[in-house]
Amino acid sequence: MGAFKETKFPADAPAAKKLMGWVDDRFPATKLWNDQWGKYYAPKNFNFWYIFGSLAMLVLVLQIVTGIFLTMHYKPDAGLAFASVEYIMREVPWGWLVRYMHSTGASAFFIIVYLHMTRGLMYGSYRKPRELIWLFGFAIFLCLMAEAFFGYLLPWGQMSYWGAQVIVNLFGAIPLIGPDLSLWIRGDYVVSDATLNRFFAFHVIAIPLVLLGLVAAHLIALHEVGSSNPDGIEVKENLGPDGHPVDSIPSHPYYTVHDLFGVSVFLTIFSAVVFFAPEMGGYFLEYNNFLPGDSMKTPPHIAPTWYFTAFYSVLRATTSDFLWVLMVGIAAYTAFLWMKSKLSSMVKIAVSVIALAMIVGMVPGALDAKFWGVVFFGGSVVILAFLPWLDHSPVKSIRYRPDWHKYVYAGLAVSFVALGYLGTQPPSPIGTIIAQIATLYYFGFFLLMPWWSEMGTFKKVPDRVVFHAH
Ligand code: HEM
Repeated sequence: MGAFKETKFPADAPAAKKLMGWVDDRFPATKLWNDQWGKYYAPKNFNFWYIFGSLAMLVLVLQIVTGIFLTMHYKPDAGLAFASVEYIMREVPWGWLVRYMHSTGASAFFIIVYLHMTRGLMYGSYRKPRELIWLFGFAIFLCLMAEAFFGYLLPWGQMSYWGAQVIVNLFGAIPLIGPDLSLWIRGDYVVSDATLNRFFAFHVIAIPLVLLGLVAAHLIALHEVGSSNPDGIEVKENLGPDGHPVDSIPSHPYYTVHDLFGVSVFLTIFSAVVFFAPEMGGYFLEYNNFLPGDSMKTPPHIAPTWYFTAFYSVLRATTSDFLWVLMVGIAAYTAFLWMKSKLSSMVKIAVSVIALAMIVGMVPGALDAKFWGVVFFGGSVVILAFLPWLDHSPVKSIRYRPDWHKYVYAGLAVSFVALGYLGTQPPSPIGTIIAQIATLYYFGFFLLMPWWSEMGTFKKVPDRVVFHAH
C-alpha cells in the first residue's frame, strides 16, 4: 500500500479550501461533484423537455421527506389507519400541509415521469448507447407504480380498500396458481389488517430503497455515456482542443441556473394545487376515499387513480368479443413477421409458437377474457421496455424524421390519453369500443415500429447542434 500523502496548502490559504482538501484526501467529494454535475458536460441545446429529470429527483426527495413526517403520526392498523390520517389533517401542526404535499406529490411524480418518458420517445433518448438508461428508467417506472399502489391502501378509505381488492383479485385470473397467489399477496381471504401491514412495509421501506438504488444506477449510466439532445447528435464525436465536446457546456453553473428556474415554475404550480385544489376534482384524491373503508359496502364505481387508468382501460377493453379481433391480429402479425422480418428463423419459430398458444388460449372455453385482460394490461406496460430494439429509424430525433411520423406519434398520445380518460369513467358500450380501437393502436404502434420507423424520407441530421444562444 502506498504511503498516505496529505495535500499541502500555503499557511494563508482559505480555511474552507484547507477543509475541502482534508476531506478530498480521504473521500473523493470534489471528484464526485465534478464527475456527476460540476464538470459534467451536457449538450448546450437542451430545451423545456430536459427539465423533467431534475424535477423527478426533486419530487422523489419531497415524497421521502413528507413521507417520513407522515409515518410519525400514521397508524398501520385497519382499526386506526383512517382516523390517524384524519388526525394528521386536523390535529397535527402543519399535518394537513405535509399530507397534501405527499398526495399531490404522487400525482406530480407521474405527470413528470410521463413527460420525461415522452421526451425519451420524441428524441429517441433510449437509442444506442442509452439502452440501459432507458431500462433503469423502465424499472423505476414499475417501482413507482408499485409504490403508488401500496401507498394508496394506507388511508384505508373506500377507494383504498376496494381498489386494492380489485387489483389483488386480478392475480386470481392466472390459471392454476391465481387464487393462491391472491391469497398470498393479501395474507388473508379479503383485504384486511394483514394486507395493510405488509403494504405499509413495502411502501415505506422496501420499494423506496429499490427506487433510490435504481435512480442512482440511472444517473451513473447517463453520466457514463453522456446526455443526448433534441437534435439526437452525439456531441462527443466533436471534441474541442480542451477535450470537451464543442457543443457542450458544464452543468454547473449553466444547467444549475436552468434547472433552478424550472424548479421555481414547478413549485409555483405545485403550491397552487396543494393550497387551492389538493383534491383536483377527485383526480388526485378521490371523493370516495373520504369515507372509511367498509368491507360490507362496495362502491358502485371503482376506478384506480388517474395515472393507472390508461393501462386499466386496456384490461377493461379485453372483452370476450374483442378476443376474436385479437386472434385475427395475432395471426396477421405472425404472418407479417414471416414475410417481412429479418429476424432469424429460430426467433420467428419461437414467436409463432407463442402466437399459436395465445390463439388457442383465446378460443371460447379455453382461458377467459379476464385472464387475457390481465395479460394485455401487463403487456401494455412491459412493451415499453423493448423500445430501444423496436425503433429502427436511421435518426434519433423526431426533428429529422419524415413529417408523417409526427402523426403516428400524435396518434399514440391521443390513444393513451383516450384510454386514460375512459379508465376513469364507468364502462359504457361506446367507451369500450373506443378503448378497443385505442388498444389496437397502442400495441400496433410498438409492434409495427420496426417497419414504420424506417419508412419515409428522412431529413439530413446536421453535424453540429442547431442552437444559437441569444
Ligand atoms: C424517479 C424517476 C426518475 C428520475 C429521478 C430520473 C432522473 C433523470 C435525470 C436527472 C436525467 C438527466 C436529465 C434529463 O435528461 O432530463 C434523466 C435522463 C433520462 N431518463 Fe430518467 N429519471 C426517472 C425516470 C425515468 C423513466 C421512468 C424513464 C423511462 C422509462 C427514464 C428515461 C430516461 C432517459 C432515456 C434519459 C436520457 C435522456 C437523454 O440523454 O436524452 N427516466 N433521468
